Amino acid sequence: MAGPQRTLAILKPDAVAKRATGQILACIEAAGLEIIAMKRLWLDQQRAEGFYAVHKERPFFSDLVKFMTSGPVVVCVLEAEGAIARWRELMGPTNSNEAPTGTIRGDFGSDIERNAVHGSDAPETARLEIAYFFNASEIQALVEALPG
Ligand code: RTP
Ligand code: MG
Repeated sequence: MAGPQRTLAILKPDAVAKRATGQILACIEAAGLEIIAMKRLWLDQQRAEGFYAVHKERPFFSDLVKFMTSGPVVVCVLEAEGAIARWRELMGPTNSNEAPTGTIRGDFGSDIERNAVHGSDAPETARLEIAYFFNASEIQALVEALPG
């Protein structure tokens, strides 16, 4: 076993606006992904562009930035064995219209853009994305939080 892995989850503005925050966090916890850091914030244009910089040449980039700055988001660090793949599996495919029932995008997303959640796609991007939103002091692994 490689040991626990961390990934960044974002509950996007569409999910927060429809008051699905609680339901999505419940799905995350039910799947055995530990929420070891979390904050709610409203991204400005610069912060959204920086986060999705990898997509800056894509035709959908300006729409994506507009969407991601349209309202508050909730950013979380998830920890578990295989967290990156497990969270992406639970999210479902990018296009909510193609996402099966039982996936978060299938249940809470609307289309290819308004798809409720983000997840890191690899260990290196997870590390960078977590550092984009959290200081080390804001992240407490579950084991550190257990009494005694
Ligand atoms: P994410 O990064 O948000 O977890 O999503 P993903 O890996 O499944 O998809 P990605 O290709 O990285 O795209 C990032 C986000 O851009 C929006 N998008 N819009 N209009 C379009 O054709 C289009 N394609 C992608 C989505 O919000 C997608 O999650
Ligand atoms: Mg992506």
